[in-house]
Amino acid sequence: MTTASPSSCAVSSSLAVVLLALLLAAASASAEKETHLRFYWHDVMSGPSPTVARVAEAATTNASATSFGAVYVMDDPLTEGPDLASSSSKVVGRAQGMYVCAGKDSLSLLMAMTFVFQDGSAYNGSSVAVVGPNQAAMAVREMAVVGGTGAFRFARGYCQARTYSFDAKTGDATVEYNVYLRHN
Ligand SMILES: *[C@@H]1O[C@H](CO)[C@@H](O)[C@H](O)[C@H]1NC(C)=O
Ligand SMILES: *[C@@H]1O[C@H](CO)[C@@H](O)[C@H](O)[C@H]1NC(C)=O
Repeated sequence: MTTASPSSCAVSSSLAVVLLALLLAAASASAEKETHLRFYWHDVMSGPSPTVARVAEAATTNASATSFGAVYVMDDPLTEGPDLASSSSKVVGRAQGMYVCAGKDSLSLLMAMTFVFQDGSAYNGSSVAVVGPNQAAMAVREMAVVGGTGAFRFARGYCQARTYSFDAKTGDATVEYNVYLRHN
């Protein structure tokens, strides 16, 4: 067993202070949070109160198999469960923004929307901004999260969309979104 001299004690305690400072700096750098959100997005085209409207198109859009050039504006409800009509599917927010049929030869939407969280969500008043390609016929589509507000300030990340149901006759769609975020 060795006994430390007073001077080696002083050296080791100043080393400890430096180490503590480094640890604190590392801790504040990694104070960034990770959040995973999951909800269902409802694009309602039919019925008395559609949540999406086609607002523009090109002269050639109607002749295009992929509706190239069509522009839609949405205010789509986001719910906890997949069934919009069910009372167990609490509305947690809205997807407000637009999508554009941007694929000339394949079905591909450009999504530009904010997920605006409301009463019923733990993130009431906060939002997440999403921009990205949505090849709607694919099983999984990935889009970028480019920012956020409120609880999601400085957010970045990605989301994955999976079609839950699609009615080809009405155009109504329900899509599961999983959002993976890093933020302050
Ligand atoms: C495309 O089709 C829609 C629906 O049939 C019609 O209202 C619209 O006028 C057409 N647009 C053009 C540019 O022909
Ligand atoms: C949700 O946010 C709105 C405004 O951002 C506020 O008026 C409302 O009281 C909030 N609701 C809850 C339950 O905190």
